Amino acid sequence: MQSEDRHAHWQDVYSKKAENEVSWFQENPAPSIELIMQVGATRASPIIDIGGGASRLVDDLIDKGFEDVTVLDVSEAALQVARSRLGDRAAKVDWIVTDITTWEPSRTYEIWHDRAAFHFLTGENDRAAYVKRLKQALKAGGHAIIATFALDGPERCSGLPVVRYDAEGLGRILGPAFQLTDRRQHRHATPWGAEQSFQFSVFRRTDTP
Ligand SMILES: C[S@@+](CC[C@H](N)C(=O)[O-])C[C@H]1O[C@@H](n2cnc3c(N)ncnc32)[C@H](O)[C@@H]1O
Repeated sequence: MQSEDRHAHWQDVYSKKAENEVSWFQENPAPSIELIMQVGATRASPIIDIGGGASRLVDDLIDKGFEDVTVLDVSEAALQVARSRLGDRAAKVDWIVTDITTWEPSRTYEIWHDRAAFHFLTGENDRAAYVKRLKQALKAGGHAIIATFALDGPERCSGLPVVRYDAEGLGRILGPAFQLTDRRQHRHATPWGAEQSFQFSVFRRTDTP
């Protein structure tokens, strides 16, 4: 999928559907928060949510006192949902509208979080572009927490094909600079009560950028 098509697709989704009318809606991003705390994040840890969309993770991070939070998404409509919900607190967040496969990071982060964005990259070149950005933006010793549909999860999301992973498969794509430190299976309940199988993997960056 080309960048322009991706932008158009996600703009359309977020301008037509309410926050809780999409399958990935989560009232409480508990699995992500648990792993973020587990990797030893402190309030000062710079953290970026890739494909954060309208997720409530950013609300939780701000409530917990995180001081350096960035949310990146290809859709400005998605980020606007989160910004409106946060009101004045939105000013505490750095918002980046871009396609992750073409992003030029201008700084680095200690924690890279991605729930259900990477799995839309079905082409090898796009996956390589994602890993290149991950390596540009994650500090040495930093952690990448990546959640995708698991091997027994759905084959499509939001009308688009996805690639399903387990931790090993994801690790092969990230390469030897990333050491798997934790893994979780998670059953996500959609707003209409269907179950989706996710995997959450945590990788530590072990090389020196
Ligand atoms: C299934 S939603 C998940 C949203 C959010 N992470 C959550 O957990 O609620 C996928 C998100 O990834 C964004 N996205 C998809 N492809 C992207 C890309 N190439 N670059 C940046 N964002 C992307 C979409 O706009 C959408 O917000």
